[in-house]
Amino acid sequence: MTTPLGHALTLPCGLVLPNRIAKAALSEFMADSEGVPSEHMIALYRRWGEGGAGLIITGNVMVDPRYIEAPGNVILNGKLSKVARTQLQAIAEAGKSSGSAVLMQLSHAGALASKQACERPVAPSLRRRGTPGTGAFSSAPCRALTQEEIESIVAQFVAASKMASDAGFDGVQIQSGHGHLISQFLSPGLNRRTDDWGGSLHNRARLMLEIVDEVRARLPGNFAISIKLNASDFIEDGFRFDDCLGVVEWLNSAEIDLIEISGGSRVQPKMFGLIQPDCYEADGRLASGYNGTGAYFGSFSKAVKTVARMPVLVTGGVRSRKDAEQVILHEVADIVGFGRPMCLDEKLPEKLLFGEVDVIDDIMPEGLVPGGHLGFDSSFGFFRDVHFEALIAWHSMQMARLCNGSKMDAPVKLLSALRAFRKSLRATRQR
Ligand SMILES: Cc1cc2nc3c(=O)[nH]c(=O)nc-3n(C[C@H](O)[C@H](O)[C@H](O)COP(=O)(O)O)c2cc1C
Repeated sequence: MTTPLGHALTLPCGLVLPNRIAKAALSEFMADSEGVPSEHMIALYRRWGEGGAGLIITGNVMVDPRYIEAPGNVILNGKLSKVARTQLQAIAEAGKSSGSAVLMQLSHAGALASKQACERPVAPSLRRRGTPGTGAFSSAPCRALTQEEIESIVAQFVAASKMASDAGFDGVQIQSGHGHLISQFLSPGLNRRTDDWGGSLHNRARLMLEIVDEVRARLPGNFAISIKLNASDFIEDGFRFDDCLGVVEWLNSAEIDLIEISGGSRVQPKMFGLIQPDCYEADGRLASGYNGTGAYFGSFSKAVKTVARMPVLVTGGVRSRKDAEQVILHEVADIVGFGRPMCLDEKLPEKLLFGEVDVIDDIMPEGLVPGGHLGFDSSFGFFRDVHFEALIAWHSMQMARLCNGSKMDAPVKLLSALRAFRKSLRATRQR
Protein backbone atom coordinates (compact mmCIF):
# COMPACT_ATOMS: atom_id res chain seq x y z
CA MET A 1 0.00 0.00 0.00
CA THR A 2 1.86 3.14 -1.18
CA THR A 3 -0.92 5.67 -0.95
CA PRO A 4 -0.61 8.50 1.60
CA LEU A 5 -4.13 7.50 2.65
CA GLY A 6 -2.57 4.40 4.20
CA HIS A 7 -0.41 6.19 6.76
CA ALA A 8 -1.42 5.71 10.37
CA LEU A 9 -2.15 8.76 12.51
CA THR A 10 -1.93 9.05 16.27
CA LEU A 11 -4.35 11.53 17.83
CA PRO A 12 -3.15 13.67 20.76
CA CYS A 13 -4.94 11.37 23.25
CA GLY A 14 -2.90 8.42 21.93
CA LEU A 15 -5.67 6.82 19.85
CA VAL A 16 -4.14 5.37 16.69
CA LEU A 17 -6.06 5.59 13.42
CA PRO A 18 -4.70 2.90 11.09
CA ASN A 19 -5.22 5.10 8.02
CA ARG A 20 -6.46 8.51 6.86
CA ILE A 21 -9.97 7.57 5.73
CA ALA A 22 -13.01 8.33 7.87
CA LYS A 23 -16.58 7.24 7.56
CA ALA A 24 -18.36 10.48 8.46
CA ALA A 25 -21.40 10.70 10.72
CA LEU A 26 -24.58 9.46 9.04
CA SER A 27 -27.88 9.37 10.94
CA GLU A 28 -28.96 5.76 10.69
CA PHE A 29 -32.61 6.16 11.85
CA MET A 30 -32.43 2.59 13.13
CA ALA A 31 -33.37 2.96 16.78
CA ASP A 32 -36.78 2.30 18.36
CA SER A 33 -39.05 4.95 19.89
CA GLU A 34 -36.96 4.85 23.09
CA GLY A 35 -33.77 5.43 21.13
CA VAL A 36 -32.44 1.89 21.54
CA PRO A 37 -30.39 0.74 18.53
CA SER A 38 -31.78 -2.16 16.51
CA GLU A 39 -30.05 -5.36 15.41
CA HIS A 40 -29.99 -3.85 11.91
CA MET A 41 -27.84 -1.05 13.17
CA ILE A 42 -25.36 -3.49 14.67
CA ALA A 43 -25.21 -5.31 11.34
CA LEU A 44 -24.53 -2.00 9.60
CA TYR A 45 -21.58 -1.27 11.89
CA ARG A 46 -20.27 -4.79 11.33
CA ARG A 47 -20.19 -4.01 7.59
CA TRP A 48 -18.56 -0.63 8.08
CA GLY A 49 -16.12 -2.24 10.52
CA GLU A 50 -15.07 -4.66 7.81
CA GLY A 51 -14.71 -1.86 5.26
CA GLY A 52 -11.24 -0.70 6.31
CA ALA A 53 -11.84 2.93 7.39
CA GLY A 54 -9.28 4.24 9.89
CA LEU A 55 -12.06 6.07 11.70
CA ILE A 56 -15.79 5.46 11.97
CA ILE A 57 -18.01 8.19 13.38
CA THR A 58 -21.57 7.20 14.31
CA GLY A 59 -24.62 9.15 13.19
CA ASN A 60 -25.81 11.70 15.68
CA VAL A 61 -26.77 10.23 19.03
CA MET A 62 -29.09 12.53 20.92
CA VAL A 63 -28.29 13.58 24.48
CA ASP A 64 -31.87 14.65 25.33
CA PRO A 65 -34.92 12.55 24.37
CA ARG A 66 -37.09 15.69 24.15
CA TYR A 67 -35.03 17.39 21.47
CA ILE A 68 -34.13 14.83 18.85
CA GLU A 69 -33.47 15.36 15.16
CA ALA A 70 -36.09 12.75 14.13
CA PRO A 71 -37.69 9.50 15.27
CA GLY A 72 -35.22 6.66 14.81
CA ASN A 73 -32.28 8.54 16.37
CA VAL A 74 -30.31 6.75 19.05
CA ILE A 75 -30.91 8.45 22.41
CA LEU A 76 -28.79 8.34 25.54
CA ASN A 77 -31.16 9.14 28.32
CA GLY A 78 -30.31 9.24 32.02
CA LYS A 79 -29.95 5.65 33.05
CA LEU A 80 -29.66 3.27 30.11
CA SER A 81 -31.62 0.04 30.10
CA LYS A 82 -29.65 -3.19 30.04
CA VAL A 83 -30.80 -3.77 26.45
CA ALA A 84 -29.63 -0.31 25.36
CA ARG A 85 -26.22 -0.90 26.98
CA THR A 86 -25.85 -4.25 25.27
CA GLN A 87 -26.80 -2.85 21.87
CA LEU A 88 -24.40 0.09 22.19
CA GLN A 89 -21.59 -2.25 23.20
CA ALA A 90 -22.34 -4.41 20.19
CA ILE A 91 -22.12 -1.38 17.88
CA ALA A 92 -18.74 -0.33 19.28
CA GLU A 93 -17.46 -3.88 19.05
CA ALA A 94 -18.72 -4.37 15.48
CA GLY A 95 -17.20 -1.07 14.31
CA LYS A 96 -13.84 -1.86 15.93
CA SER A 97 -13.69 -5.51 14.88
CA SER A 98 -11.12 -4.99 12.12
CA GLY A 99 -9.08 -2.23 13.73
CA SER A 100 -11.02 0.98 12.99
CA ALA A 101 -11.31 3.56 15.75
CA VAL A 102 -14.95 4.41 16.53
CA LEU A 103 -16.28 7.73 17.84
CA MET A 104 -19.87 8.40 18.84
CA GLN A 105 -21.28 11.68 17.56
CA LEU A 106 -23.28 13.44 20.29
CA SER A 107 -25.88 16.05 19.55
CA HIS A 108 -28.77 18.14 20.84
CA ALA A 109 -31.07 19.27 18.04
CA GLY A 110 -32.32 22.45 19.76
CA ALA A 111 -34.38 24.48 17.28
CA LEU A 112 -34.08 21.69 14.72
CA ALA A 113 -35.94 19.18 16.93
CA SER A 114 -38.42 17.37 14.75
CA LYS A 115 -42.09 18.41 15.04
CA GLN A 116 -42.87 14.71 15.00
CA ALA A 117 -41.10 14.32 18.32
CA CYS A 118 -41.28 17.74 19.94
CA GLU A 119 -44.03 20.34 20.12
CA ARG A 120 -41.96 23.17 21.56
CA PRO A 121 -38.26 22.99 20.79
CA VAL A 122 -35.68 25.06 22.61
CA ALA A 123 -33.08 27.42 21.17
CA PRO A 124 -30.54 29.96 22.42
CA SER A 125 -33.21 32.63 22.05
CA LEU A 126 -36.92 32.87 21.32
CA ARG A 127 -37.88 31.99 17.74
CA ARG A 128 -41.38 32.77 16.67
CA ARG A 129 -41.13 30.63 13.55
CA GLY A 130 -40.03 27.03 13.31
CA THR A 131 -37.10 25.87 11.21
CA PRO A 132 -38.27 25.20 7.68
CA GLY A 133 -38.37 21.63 6.51
CA THR A 134 -40.81 18.99 5.44
CA GLY A 135 -42.04 15.81 7.08
CA ALA A 136 -39.58 14.56 9.66
CA PHE A 137 -37.44 17.66 9.39
CA SER A 138 -39.72 20.58 10.14
CA SER A 139 -39.77 22.07 13.58
CA ALA A 140 -42.02 24.30 15.66
CA PRO A 141 -41.40 27.79 17.12
CA CYS A 142 -38.90 27.68 19.98
CA ARG A 143 -38.58 29.07 23.46
CA ALA A 144 -35.28 30.34 24.84
CA LEU A 145 -33.30 28.08 27.15
CA THR A 146 -32.83 29.21 30.73
CA GLN A 147 -29.41 29.47 32.32
CA GLU A 148 -30.13 26.32 34.42
CA GLU A 149 -31.16 24.40 31.32
CA ILE A 150 -27.96 25.37 29.53
CA GLU A 151 -25.94 24.10 32.48
CA SER A 152 -27.87 20.85 32.44
CA ILE A 153 -27.10 20.42 28.72
CA VAL A 154 -23.38 20.51 29.57
CA ALA A 155 -24.07 17.75 32.09
CA GLN A 156 -26.03 15.76 29.48
CA PHE A 157 -23.06 15.77 27.09
CA VAL A 158 -20.77 14.63 29.91
CA ALA A 159 -23.17 11.85 30.95
CA ALA A 160 -23.53 10.72 27.32
CA SER A 161 -19.74 10.70 26.89
CA LYS A 162 -19.41 8.44 29.94
CA MET A 163 -22.02 6.09 28.48
CA ALA A 164 -20.11 6.04 25.18
CA SER A 165 -16.89 5.25 27.04
CA ASP A 166 -18.56 2.51 29.12
CA ALA A 167 -19.92 0.95 25.92
CA GLY A 168 -16.40 0.75 24.47
CA PHE A 169 -16.34 3.70 22.06
CA ASP A 170 -12.90 5.27 21.60
CA GLY A 171 -14.26 8.76 22.00
CA VAL A 172 -16.99 11.20 21.07
CA GLN A 173 -17.54 13.81 18.44
CA ILE A 174 -19.49 16.84 19.67
CA GLN A 175 -21.78 17.99 16.85
CA SER A 176 -21.15 21.74 16.72
CA GLY A 177 -22.12 22.30 13.10
CA HIS A 178 -24.98 21.71 10.67
CA GLY A 179 -27.43 23.91 12.59
CA HIS A 180 -27.73 21.71 15.72
CA LEU A 181 -27.95 23.39 19.14
CA ILE A 182 -24.25 24.17 19.66
CA SER A 183 -24.08 25.64 16.18
CA GLN A 184 -27.22 27.68 16.97
CA PHE A 185 -25.34 29.09 19.97
CA LEU A 186 -22.36 29.93 17.75
CA SER A 187 -24.52 31.81 15.25
CA PRO A 188 -25.05 35.53 15.97
CA GLY A 189 -28.34 35.45 14.02
CA LEU A 190 -29.83 32.64 16.10
CA ASN A 191 -28.23 33.50 19.40
CA ARG A 192 -29.56 36.88 20.53
CA ARG A 193 -28.87 36.31 24.21
CA THR A 194 -27.53 39.17 26.26
CA ASP A 195 -26.13 37.07 29.11
CA ASP A 196 -22.85 35.10 29.30
CA TRP A 197 -24.02 32.72 26.56
CA GLY A 198 -24.58 35.27 23.81
CA GLY A 199 -23.08 38.39 22.25
CA SER A 200 -19.31 38.10 21.74
CA LEU A 201 -17.88 35.11 19.87
CA HIS A 202 -16.40 33.81 23.10
CA ASN A 203 -19.81 33.90 24.80
CA ARG A 204 -21.43 32.20 21.80
CA ALA A 205 -18.76 29.51 21.94
CA ARG A 206 -19.11 29.08 25.72
CA LEU A 207 -21.52 26.14 25.53
CA MET A 208 -19.17 24.20 23.25
CA LEU A 209 -16.07 25.07 25.28
CA GLU A 210 -17.69 24.17 28.61
CA ILE A 211 -18.83 20.83 27.22
CA VAL A 212 -15.33 20.09 25.96
CA ASP A 213 -13.70 21.12 29.25
CA GLU A 214 -16.12 19.05 31.32
CA VAL A 215 -15.83 15.97 29.11
CA ARG A 216 -12.03 16.26 29.21
CA ALA A 217 -12.03 16.67 32.98
CA ARG A 218 -14.33 13.72 33.66
CA LEU A 219 -13.27 11.13 31.09
CA PRO A 220 -9.95 9.28 30.93
CA GLY A 221 -7.08 11.02 29.12
CA ASN A 222 -7.04 8.42 26.35
CA PHE A 223 -10.68 9.09 25.45
CA ALA A 224 -10.79 11.01 22.16
CA ILE A 225 -12.78 14.24 21.81
CA SER A 226 -13.58 15.57 18.38
CA ILE A 227 -15.58 18.59 17.25
CA LYS A 228 -17.55 18.84 14.02
CA LEU A 229 -17.49 22.52 13.16
CA ASN A 230 -18.94 24.60 10.36
CA ALA A 231 -16.47 26.60 8.30
CA SER A 232 -19.47 28.85 7.77
CA ASP A 233 -23.26 28.69 8.04
CA PHE A 234 -23.43 30.39 4.61
CA ILE A 235 -26.21 32.69 5.73
CA GLU A 236 -25.85 36.40 6.11
CA ASP A 237 -26.17 36.66 9.89
CA GLY A 238 -24.67 33.26 10.59
CA PHE A 239 -21.36 31.92 11.88
CA ARG A 240 -18.60 33.04 9.51
CA PHE A 241 -15.19 31.70 8.63
CA ASP A 242 -13.41 34.32 10.75
CA ASP A 243 -15.48 33.07 13.68
CA CYS A 244 -14.48 29.51 12.84
CA LEU A 245 -10.78 30.41 12.98
CA GLY A 246 -11.32 32.18 16.31
CA VAL A 247 -13.03 29.11 17.75
CA VAL A 248 -10.22 26.84 16.55
CA GLU A 249 -7.74 29.01 18.49
CA TRP A 250 -9.68 28.35 21.72
CA LEU A 251 -10.01 24.68 20.91
CA ASN A 252 -6.20 24.57 20.66
CA SER A 253 -6.02 25.04 24.42
CA ALA A 254 -8.87 22.64 25.12
CA GLU A 255 -7.11 19.31 24.49
CA ILE A 256 -9.19 18.43 21.45
CA ASP A 257 -8.06 15.44 19.41
CA LEU A 258 -9.65 16.15 16.05
CA ILE A 259 -11.61 18.89 14.30
CA GLU A 260 -13.86 18.01 11.40
CA ILE A 261 -14.60 20.86 9.02
CA SER A 262 -17.97 20.92 7.31
CA GLY A 263 -20.51 23.67 6.72
CA GLY A 264 -24.09 24.78 6.23
CA SER A 265 -27.31 23.45 7.70
CA ARG A 266 -30.76 22.44 6.54
CA VAL A 267 -31.28 26.04 5.46
CA GLN A 268 -28.13 26.12 3.33
CA PRO A 269 -27.11 22.49 2.78
CA LYS A 270 -23.56 23.20 1.68
CA MET A 271 -22.47 19.93 3.32
CA PHE A 272 -24.12 18.32 0.29
CA GLY A 273 -22.63 20.84 -2.12
CA LEU A 274 -26.08 22.27 -2.74
CA ILE A 275 -25.78 25.93 -3.52
CA GLN A 276 -28.98 27.82 -3.14
CA PRO A 277 -30.05 31.21 -4.41
CA ASP A 278 -29.53 33.17 -1.22
CA CYS A 279 -26.30 31.42 -0.23
CA TYR A 280 -23.97 33.82 1.51
CA GLU A 281 -20.38 32.90 0.73
CA ALA A 282 -18.18 33.25 3.77
CA ASP A 283 -15.23 34.13 1.61
CA GLY A 284 -15.40 34.00 -2.16
CA ARG A 285 -11.79 32.86 -2.44
CA LEU A 286 -12.27 29.90 -0.18
CA ALA A 287 -15.72 28.67 -1.00
CA SER A 288 -15.00 26.64 -4.09
CA GLY A 289 -13.05 23.66 -2.77
CA TYR A 290 -9.29 23.26 -2.76
CA ASN A 291 -7.35 23.28 -6.01
CA GLY A 292 -9.93 21.33 -7.97
CA THR A 293 -10.11 18.45 -5.46
CA GLY A 294 -13.87 18.58 -5.16
CA ALA A 295 -13.62 18.78 -1.35
CA TYR A 296 -16.32 21.38 -0.71
CA PHE A 297 -14.54 22.65 2.38
CA GLY A 298 -10.96 21.95 1.29
CA SER A 299 -9.83 25.57 1.13
CA PHE A 300 -11.36 26.23 4.52
CA SER A 301 -9.74 23.21 6.13
CA LYS A 302 -6.38 24.13 4.59
CA ALA A 303 -6.68 27.53 6.27
CA VAL A 304 -7.83 25.90 9.52
CA LYS A 305 -4.75 23.68 9.45
CA THR A 306 -2.50 26.73 9.60
CA VAL A 307 -4.07 27.58 12.97
CA ALA A 308 -5.07 24.20 14.45
CA ARG A 309 -2.68 22.33 16.70
CA MET A 310 -4.76 19.14 16.47
CA PRO A 311 -5.40 16.97 13.39
CA VAL A 312 -8.06 18.13 10.94
CA LEU A 313 -10.60 16.02 9.08
CA VAL A 314 -12.40 17.38 6.04
CA THR A 315 -15.64 15.86 4.77
CA GLY A 316 -17.80 16.58 1.76
CA GLY A 317 -17.57 16.17 -1.98
CA VAL A 318 -14.42 14.03 -2.36
CA ARG A 319 -15.13 11.61 -5.18
CA SER A 320 -11.84 10.20 -6.45
CA ARG A 321 -8.76 8.48 -5.06
CA LYS A 322 -6.55 11.17 -6.53
CA ASP A 323 -8.53 13.93 -4.82
CA ALA A 324 -8.44 12.08 -1.51
CA GLU A 325 -4.66 11.66 -1.84
CA GLN A 326 -4.24 15.34 -2.76
CA VAL A 327 -6.05 16.32 0.43
CA ILE A 328 -3.37 14.51 2.46
CA LEU A 329 -0.35 15.36 0.29
CA HIS A 330 -1.20 19.07 0.07
CA GLU A 331 -1.98 19.24 3.79
CA VAL A 332 -5.54 20.28 3.13
CA ALA A 333 -6.43 17.98 6.04
CA ASP A 334 -4.96 15.02 7.91
CA ILE A 335 -7.93 12.76 7.29
CA VAL A 336 -10.51 12.59 4.48
CA GLY A 337 -14.13 11.87 5.36
CA PHE A 338 -16.80 10.22 3.27
CA GLY A 339 -20.52 10.41 3.93
CA ARG A 340 -22.87 9.47 1.08
CA PRO A 341 -20.40 7.10 -0.63
CA MET A 342 -20.33 5.02 2.57
CA CYS A 343 -24.10 4.49 2.25
CA LEU A 344 -23.47 2.83 -1.09
CA ASP A 345 -20.30 0.81 -0.62
CA GLU A 346 -19.02 -0.13 2.82
CA LYS A 347 -15.76 -1.40 1.29
CA LEU A 348 -14.84 1.96 -0.21
CA PRO A 349 -11.96 2.64 2.27
CA GLU A 350 -10.32 -0.71 1.54
CA LYS A 351 -10.72 -0.18 -2.22
CA LEU A 352 -9.13 3.27 -1.97
CA LEU A 353 -6.26 1.93 0.10
CA PHE A 354 -5.50 -0.89 -2.33
CA GLY A 355 -5.96 1.20 -5.47
CA GLU A 356 -9.01 -0.76 -6.57
CA VAL A 357 -11.06 2.32 -7.23
CA ASP A 358 -10.14 5.59 -8.96
CA VAL A 359 -13.44 7.37 -9.33
CA ILE A 360 -16.07 7.07 -6.64
CA ASP A 361 -19.48 6.81 -8.24
CA ASP A 362 -21.44 9.84 -7.30
CA ILE A 363 -24.79 8.38 -7.99
CA MET A 364 -27.51 10.94 -7.80
CA PRO A 365 -30.83 9.51 -6.78
CA GLU A 366 -33.30 9.45 -9.62
CA GLY A 367 -35.60 12.42 -9.31
CA LEU A 368 -33.07 14.86 -7.83
CA VAL A 369 -33.81 17.90 -9.91
CA PRO A 370 -30.84 20.24 -10.21
CA GLY A 371 -32.55 23.39 -11.40
CA GLY A 372 -35.79 25.19 -12.11
CA HIS A 373 -38.69 25.97 -9.83
CA LEU A 374 -38.95 22.39 -8.56
CA GLY A 375 -35.22 21.81 -8.09
CA PHE A 376 -32.97 21.67 -5.05
CA ASP A 377 -31.87 25.20 -5.82
CA SER A 378 -35.44 26.41 -6.32
CA SER A 379 -36.31 29.87 -5.11
CA PHE A 380 -39.24 28.19 -3.34
CA GLY A 381 -38.07 26.97 0.05
CA PHE A 382 -40.62 24.16 0.07
CA PHE A 383 -39.05 22.40 -2.90
CA ARG A 384 -35.57 22.83 -1.48
CA ASP A 385 -36.73 21.29 1.79
CA VAL A 386 -38.35 18.35 0.02
CA HIS A 387 -35.07 17.70 -1.76
CA PHE A 388 -33.10 17.84 1.46
CA GLU A 389 -35.34 15.33 3.18
CA ALA A 390 -35.54 13.11 0.11
CA LEU A 391 -31.74 13.05 -0.18
CA ILE A 392 -31.45 11.86 3.43
CA ALA A 393 -34.31 9.40 2.85
CA TRP A 394 -32.69 7.91 -0.25
CA HIS A 395 -29.33 7.46 1.46
CA SER A 396 -30.87 6.00 4.58
CA MET A 397 -32.65 3.50 2.37
CA GLN A 398 -29.28 2.53 0.91
CA MET A 399 -27.85 2.14 4.43
CA ALA A 400 -30.71 -0.20 5.27
CA ARG A 401 -29.73 -2.30 2.27
CA LEU A 402 -26.11 -2.44 3.40
CA CYS A 403 -27.24 -4.04 6.68
CA ASN A 404 -28.34 -7.20 4.98
CA GLY A 405 -25.65 -7.18 2.35
CA SER A 406 -27.83 -6.22 -0.61
CA LYS A 407 -26.37 -4.12 -3.37
CA MET A 408 -27.21 -0.49 -3.86
CA ASP A 409 -30.58 0.12 -5.44
CA ALA A 410 -29.96 3.13 -7.68
CA PRO A 411 -33.27 3.08 -9.49
CA VAL A 412 -35.21 3.82 -6.30
CA LYS A 413 -36.79 7.13 -7.07
CA LEU A 414 -36.28 9.98 -4.68
CA LEU A 415 -39.97 10.46 -3.95
CA SER A 416 -40.55 6.76 -3.31
CA ALA A 417 -37.63 6.83 -0.90
CA LEU A 418 -39.17 9.86 0.78
CA ARG A 419 -42.54 8.14 1.21
CA ALA A 420 -40.94 4.97 2.60
CA PHE A 421 -38.74 7.00 4.96
CA ARG A 422 -41.67 8.96 6.38
CA LYS A 423 -43.68 5.81 6.82
CA SER A 424 -40.86 4.14 8.72
CA LEU A 425 -40.31 7.16 10.98
CA ARG A 426 -44.05 7.36 11.73
CA ALA A 427 -44.02 3.69 12.65
CA THR A 428 -40.99 4.22 14.92
CA ARG A 429 -42.70 7.09 16.69
CA GLN A 430 -45.87 5.11 17.30
CA ARG A 431 -44.16 2.01 18.63
C1 LIG B 1 -28.27 10.12 5.27
C2 LIG B 1 -27.31 11.13 5.83
C3 LIG B 1 -27.26 11.31 7.20
C4 LIG B 1 -26.35 12.23 7.76
N1 LIG B 1 -26.29 12.35 9.11
C5 LIG B 1 -25.35 13.15 9.69
C6 LIG B 1 -25.21 13.20 11.10
O1 LIG B 1 -25.88 12.49 11.85
N2 LIG B 1 -24.27 14.03 11.60
C7 LIG B 1 -23.46 14.80 10.80
O2 LIG B 1 -22.61 15.53 11.32
N3 LIG B 1 -23.57 14.76 9.47
C8 LIG B 1 -24.49 13.94 8.88
N4 LIG B 1 -24.57 13.86 7.52
C9 LIG B 1 -23.60 14.64 6.69
C10 LIG B 1 -22.34 13.82 6.42
O3 LIG B 1 -21.61 13.52 7.58
C11 LIG B 1 -21.39 14.58 5.45
O4 LIG B 1 -20.98 15.77 6.11
C12 LIG B 1 -22.05 14.91 4.12
O5 LIG B 1 -22.75 13.78 3.61
C13 LIG B 1 -21.00 15.36 3.08
O6 LIG B 1 -20.09 14.35 2.78
P1 LIG B 1 -20.17 13.51 1.39
O7 LIG B 1 -20.08 14.50 0.25
O8 LIG B 1 -18.99 12.59 1.42
O9 LIG B 1 -21.49 12.83 1.39
C14 LIG B 1 -25.49 12.99 6.92
C15 LIG B 1 -25.55 12.79 5.53
C16 LIG B 1 -26.45 11.89 4.99
C17 LIG B 1 -26.48 11.68 3.50
